[in-house]
Amino acid sequence: TRTPVNVTVTGAAGQIGYALLFRIASGHLLGQDVPVKLRLLEIPQGVKAAEGTAMELDDCAFPLLQGIDIFDDPNKGFEGANIGLLVGARPRGPGMERGDLLAANGGIFKPQGKAINDHAADDVKVLVVGNPANTNALIAQAAAPDVPAERFTAMTRLDHNRALSQLSQKTGVPVSEIKKLTIWGNHSATQYPDIFHATVAGKNAAEVVNDEKWLAEDFIPTVAKRGAAIIDARGASSAASAANAAIDHIYSWVNGTPEGDWVSMGIPSDGSYGVPEGLISSFPVTTKDGKYEIVQGLDINEFSRARIDASVKELEEERAAVRELGLI
Ligand code: NAI
Repeated sequence: TRTPVNVTVTGAAGQIGYALLFRIASGHLLGQDVPVKLRLLEIPQGVKAAEGTAMELDDCAFPLLQGIDIFDDPNKGFEGANIGLLVGARPRGPGMERGDLLAANGGIFKPQGKAINDHAADDVKVLVVGNPANTNALIAQAAAPDVPAERFTAMTRLDHNRALSQLSQKTGVPVSEIKKLTIWGNHSATQYPDIFHATVAGKNAAEVVNDEKWLAEDFIPTVAKRGAAIIDARGASSAASAANAAIDHIYSWVNGTPEGDWVSMGIPSDGSYGVPEGLISSFPVTTKDGKYEIVQGLDINEFSRARIDASVKELEEERAAVRELGLI
């Protein structure tokens, strides 16, 4: 029998946590043959609700779930963690400026990065979901100098999945036949969903769509502003779809991408495609044996270049702001 994988989830008592934990425990994060131990990290006020969720997890009698522990101390929560899902974050409150938001999140992600550095397993893989995800990942990474930088990633898979679904609806082709779509840049309204290299039932997606106005005025803003549209409709932010994307992100990273396709991940840039080194920006990646690689050699047209650059500029501004705050 295999040794269980330790999965630490922060913000476990939140709405994404509630949608996420049951799918981890039922084997969707890593695979149906991989036992897991859950380590739930909350703030003290969240512990009781996390205990309630743990009771429900017990009541599912999941065969792969080999234990649940609950913590309010990151040093304990990340002990032995093989996978860290950093979901809990400080939301933007009324009248809060970007600097305040970044500072408040620095107070969460810096100590968590340090706890990962000091206590996680050597093979730890980290996904930051909590917003602003890319820059929170940068903060955690900077606090973990002993962990290889590439282990810190940010989630743009929800954006990727949203784009797949929109393109499927436009073309009438099922998502299973859409490949090589890319989200570039920041997980924010400046993100750029790129269909110029995507294929729809084997044909170039941009040519199948053949409608630049739809691309610029419908597709891109619909994907980029989907989070706000969900809040409008549901009265609460995306939770199950965000949890699903977190599952997809880790599953792809650990188990590999299929031949002839790729996924989008927010990862530290190596300078590819003119994205300054070290920024945690979304790229097209393939994965194999638990490692990812940026897809190289894609031709970036003028339409794409301007949009990638705008999103990357925003990431540079966020990096400058957290530098100024002494968070990295
Ligand atoms: P929520 O407010 O329902 O839950 C957040 C939980 O985190 C709360 O239980 C809170 O007690 C906990 N928490 C706060 N600080 C913590 C800390 N220092 N350590 C451990 N736990 C802590 O929020 P929800 O809906 O679950 O969303 C979580 C985050 O995910 C938000 O930042 C949201 O903006 C982000 N998000 C990101 C998406 C993406 O695509 N990257 C998509 C959707 C949401």
